[in-house]
Amino acid sequence: MACGGGGDGTPSPVQPSPVASPAPTPTPTPTPAPALQPTFSSINTQVLQVWCIGCHSGVGRPPDGGLRLDANAAYGELVNAQSAGKPSAVRVVPRDPSGSYLIQKLEGRSDIIGDRMPFGGQPLAQSDIDVIRAWISQGAPNN
Ligand code: HEC
Repeated sequence: MACGGGGDGTPSPVQPSPVASPAPTPTPTPTPAPALQPTFSSINTQVLQVWCIGCHSGVGRPPDGGLRLDANAAYGELVNAQSAGKPSAVRVVPRDPSGSYLIQKLEGRSDIIGDRMPFGGQPLAQSDIDVIRAWISQGAPNN
């Protein structure tokens, strides 16, 4: 008998097991994060830990700009926290996106100290910056 012969002719395809896919690998050019939500957890996972952590991790090194964006530290380092590079500025001012130094750095405003973020890289998509603005407008909750 031939191997695989006979049967009822119905193919039985092997399905990949439905395991969670790994975190996406960042590509060199920022594109809008899929379904970025105006919540801190979404921004943290889809923006900070993708585009910023390479320079702003405090693990085993001092974070660039004195800003530590490790997942469990990022909220406290941003909301109501004084800028290290421009001490008169506050990184995230709840309900005031335009007054938040984080937004000013992401949008490359002329009165920032240093460079537009991500440093030396492609700016974030404006649609993503707008989602971060919306989160700040809602009071920058730790949600
Ligand atoms: C290639 C390295 C690099 C990447 C990537 C990067 N940064 Fe920075 N960041 C720096 C350096 C260096 C400084 C300090 C010099 C400056 O402000 O230009 C800085 C400063 C900052 C500051 C000012 C901190 C303060 O207290 O004054 C903010 C805010 C900031 N970065 C946010 C971000 C965000 C958000 C991202 C991701 C979207 C990001 N950075 C990605 C290197 C980086």
